[in-house]
Amino acid sequence: MIRPSDFSSIVVLTGAGISAESGLKTFRDNDGLWEGHRVEEVATPEAFINNPSLVQQFYNTRRQQLQNEAAPNTAHKALAHFQQQYSGSFTLITQNVDNLHEQAGSQNTQHMHGELLKGRCLSTDEIFPWYEDMNEQSLCPCCKSRGNIRPHIVWFGEMPLYMKDIEEQILKCDLLIAIGTSGVVYPAAGFAQLAQAAEACTVELNLEASAVHSDFNHAYYGPATKVVTEFFRT
Ligand code: OAD
Repeated sequence: MIRPSDFSSIVVLTGAGISAESGLKTFRDNDGLWEGHRVEEVATPEAFINNPSLVQQFYNTRRQQLQNEAAPNTAHKALAHFQQQYSGSFTLITQNVDNLHEQAGSQNTQHMHGELLKGRCLSTDEIFPWYEDMNEQSLCPCCKSRGNIRPHIVWFGEMPLYMKDIEEQILKCDLLIAIGTSGVVYPAAGFAQLAQAAEACTVELNLEASAVHSDFNHAYYGPATKVVTEFFRT
């Protein structure tokens, strides 16, 4: 097994698989979130215009589950522990909207698909913490209007966050590790190819081979609590 501490600049990309053993459903596995919902119904700007209460309910349920039922698992913790003692450059990018990396002690996590525990003003785009259910009566703390608020989530058809910074980090890293992501949603699915083109070593840690498994130099398959914990053991 290669050792991350032998590299000087590391980018880690995580997806829903790292939070699966914390009790949060992935999107595309059996019984995943997209099995019970069509993406177009709950995760697009059009859905929010056409049926805001359905969209809000979908994210209210996720927000409640995160706060009431989920806790970081040993994979989140191993990653945070590695980050804390590693002396090189370390960038943690997540597609996850949960805050389990932060709860485990990771810092500067870049949530490229937004954050469940934040809301956004529809008029100003100001972002603020949000822990309760959100609905059409919710008072926006920014503009003080009722209902002028949305979850701080990147929906399909919208641009993921921090892309310029993320691309810069990928182009200068010497190791990119993708954890628990199916490799079907771009641009994140293209990060390994970008890193490989820049001559970085690429590693996949996942339950099974992802859709972009051929973009990785090394792969270790199994549950995140096992493979991530072993990989980042120092
Ligand atoms: P997916 O649900 O597409 O993929 C989850 C991946 O995690 C799969 O490859 C599983 O094999 C793997 N997996 C499941 N359980 C695991 C475990 N215990 N340990 C390790 N791996 C495990 O989730 P993402 O790739 O994160 O976007 O999805 C990407 C984006 O698609 C999400 O951010 C979301 C979704 O639509 C938006 O909502 C914008």
